[in-house]
Amino acid sequence: MHRISRIHARLENDHAELDDLVAQTFAALDAADAAKIFENLDFFWARLGMHIRAEHLRLFPAVREIAARSQELAAIPKILDQLREDHDFFMTELARAIKAMRLVFSFGNETETFAVVRSILEAVVERLKEHNDIEEEQIYTLTTDEFLDDDSAVQLLASVQMELDRYPARFESRSKQ
Ligand SMILES: [Fe+2]
Ligand SMILES: [Fe+2]
Repeated sequence: MHRISRIHARLENDHAELDDLVAQTFAALDAADAAKIFENLDFFWARLGMHIRAEHLRLFPAVREIAARSQELAAIPKILDQLREDHDFFMTELARAIKAMRLVFSFGNETETFAVVRSILEAVVERLKEHNDIEEEQIYTLTTDEFLDDDSAVQLLASVQMELDRYPARFESRSKQ
């Protein structure tokens, strides 16, 4: 049994941070505070986008290569395809929630909109929980020294970290906190 890799630890830690951000968004919904809901939702959306980008651009291609070397990992490409569909679902649904919140500032209709945003967020969280479990149990586990040599692991961690540091311009001040 190999201990979890640094890449695994970094991405699993990011899952936990994303859980906190979504909890803050629910708290803002409970308080029915439109400005706070928008701010938290926008930041959660951006951070999840960064996490997904790190997986798409850096982790998943590396894992596909690892899987291609072993008959035992023949099921992995299909799992990655499903995870990618989840990513598309998350980003599409959160874009819909953001759009609904923007309309609140122009047209009001808060109660109905908050209910819509809450139900979108609940659907995202439900699927995200299962998604993250699959990644943590079946994908991140393929980055230990059993599958990656030291140099490749260091490079992959650096490239994942680079994506996780790449905040959209509107959040640059938060990245320095
Ligand atoms: Fe993911
Ligand atoms: Fe993930």
